Amino acid sequence: MRYEELQKLLESLTIKEKIGQLIQLSGDFFGEHEMKTGPQAKLGIESWVSENVGSVLNVIGAKQVRLIQKKHLEKSKIPLLFMADILYGYKTIYPIPLAFASSWDPDLIEEAYKNIAKETSPAGVHVTFSPMVDVVRDARWGRSMESTGEDPLLNSRFAKAMVRGFQGDFIPGESLISCVKHFAAYGAPESGREYNTVDMSRGRLVQDYLPPYKAAIEAGAKMVMTSFNTIEGVPATANKWLLQDVLREKWGFEGLVISDYAAVQELVTHGYSENQKEATIAAFAAGLDIDMKSPCYANNLESLLVDGRISEDKLNSSVMKVLKMKNDLGLFEDPYIGIVDDTDSDSADFEEIKVNAQKVAEKSIVLLKNDKGVLPIKKGTKVALMGPYADNKDLIGAWAIHSNSSSIKTLKTVFESELDQQHFKWAEGCELLSDYKVLGEFGWETNFNSILKRSAEAELKKSIELAQWADVVVFAIGEHMLQSGEGGSRTDLTVPDIQKEWLDTVLEHTKKSVVLLFNGRPLVLNDIVKKVDSVLECWFPGTEGAQAIYNLVTGKVNFSGRLTMSFPSSVGQIPIYYSNFSTGRPSKGSSRSGRFVSRYLDASNEPLYQFGYGLSYSVVKYHHLSLSSNTMKAGDSIQVHLELENIGDREVDEIVQLYIHDISASVVRPVKELKDFKKILLSPKERKNVSFSITEQMLNFVDSSLEYIIEPGEFEVLVGPSSRTEDLKTLKFRYM
Ligand code: GLC
Repeated sequence: MRYEELQKLLESLTIKEKIGQLIQLSGDFFGEHEMKTGPQAKLGIESWVSENVGSVLNVIGAKQVRLIQKKHLEKSKIPLLFMADILYGYKTIYPIPLAFASSWDPDLIEEAYKNIAKETSPAGVHVTFSPMVDVVRDARWGRSMESTGEDPLLNSRFAKAMVRGFQGDFIPGESLISCVKHFAAYGAPESGREYNTVDMSRGRLVQDYLPPYKAAIEAGAKMVMTSFNTIEGVPATANKWLLQDVLREKWGFEGLVISDYAAVQELVTHGYSENQKEATIAAFAAGLDIDMKSPCYANNLESLLVDGRISEDKLNSSVMKVLKMKNDLGLFEDPYIGIVDDTDSDSADFEEIKVNAQKVAEKSIVLLKNDKGVLPIKKGTKVALMGPYADNKDLIGAWAIHSNSSSIKTLKTVFESELDQQHFKWAEGCELLSDYKVLGEFGWETNFNSILKRSAEAELKKSIELAQWADVVVFAIGEHMLQSGEGGSRTDLTVPDIQKEWLDTVLEHTKKSVVLLFNGRPLVLNDIVKKVDSVLECWFPGTEGAQAIYNLVTGKVNFSGRLTMSFPSSVGQIPIYYSNFSTGRPSKGSSRSGRFVSRYLDASNEPLYQFGYGLSYSVVKYHHLSLSSNTMKAGDSIQVHLELENIGDREVDEIVQLYIHDISASVVRPVKELKDFKKILLSPKERKNVSFSITEQMLNFVDSSLEYIIEPGEFEVLVGPSSRTEDLKTLKFRYM
């Protein structure tokens, strides 16, 4: 409808009808089962609320959505919005974000997210609570799996790609409104402990943690979700500096701001608001539009309005944003727009999407080690597959909450279909965990693929027999799918002991060994890596992941994945990330040595695997790095040139990474920062020239007044296949 009509509709609403638009409730308020994505508590709200509510949380499915919408419209003249957590897939599950980020291919991910929207929108969802763009430099935090990693530039590129993929040129029934989260800096909880305090300088916040949210908004994200954590002692959900000064004034965001699950009510628990009435005032004053799953707005806004403690203009402004979103979707003309009833069953269209998901998985899996050329596994090799992930369908990660693993092909199913009985045997091997209670209660199904029913001794005996029979043993091990995700912080980042003990024993009978890792965050792998020949980081690779793994280990497809989060060599190093400052006493490259440098007595400073690291079946040489000039004038740019040479006999996708080091500045700068990257396809033996432009934007940084500035001085350019010092070729130039 036209804006004037929308204005008239707003004016026609009662106070309760207006307030209802600013409340989101979960499916159980509408006769649906509740998808538990937060702590369970009775809300204590009156019945008028669910009759007037503006949006529904985590209900999906053409039939359910149609039914709820129909019933709602018998009592209300305003259609419901349906919002859900569709992070990396609905029916077809892509690799988790920390996995697909290893593709370093935003274009590929934009296409993937278009596909996700095509599968999801017909099932009645209007808004997805995605992308999650939090920068994460602490692998103890379980939600690392939802992030694209530790670097603000890479996260920003992927943030734009995911928003464009979801929203694109919006088509009802094919697109999804994107709600970027969690604003802000939820990925930096102290001690890596879920929901813990976030506290950092504004300079670091603006420089390293805010850019991906801004990128998502620049790409058109229409909603922002506030994070659970405090920033400078003020919870994000009531943080005026964040929600007004930064989001609205500085960035010009005009869309809707929604709280995370019950976060308004939690302002009281934080010790920020004395009671729910004060929490309502604080959140509303900060500019929070929608209260997700808390009683605060429902039980307090009306009395606060009557008492004059909140303005009706402000209320109307928030309500109008909700009405506008519904109007832009066309819901007033057709409340069922885009819903396709047969989408509750798999349809042919999804076949193409499965092919795309497999391609993404192939580019997301990272080859960490491949000694003795154990991979690719050649035809005629006797292969034994074993371990708790050998025949486990839980390959979709903790946030595929609207899907289930039941239709997934497991590794065993794929290997069995590709290899004959003379060349393939398998065993469960061992239990994934020795105690599943650590996982806590979860609201969604996962088929705990437990072999507790069988005897560990019998499984170990069978594993040893198979290892003795095989030329190559493929060990499929890792974290439980629910040891990461929300509420999944861990202090011990090793593969569960029950698996390591089994692995150590079987390795004594193994000729050649390959480890496939399934995990939702970087793990500490030292003791496993040194004992085996090859290691693949498979993450949780999604519904098509098993086939992708088979194609990679047999060489049908070459590896191209590169890590986007450092793998610590010890938990004690955390937070660990590549773009660190020099310090006044760096352990390398300074005149000082011995004790009085920045180091540990009992561990290396270096991660086990660096940001940007990954191997392939090829070797690419970097030659002739040069600059178009060794001085760059204000307003100018200079070019970086180099030549790549694929000395291998296989085609390879090489991810060339460009880092910059601002050698001295009025606020110290990291020893290297990713400023650009290119994915270059090289045929066997091919040489190819590659160029990058160095722009002023790449040289600027946030000074103590929180403004981006650029200063004259000496800079270093570093180019290579990873952030490892030994992989980088460097040159210097001066910005005048
Ligand atoms: C959860 C998560 C958030 C999700 C929301 C709705 O607690 O923090 O990412 O979108 O609740 O399920």
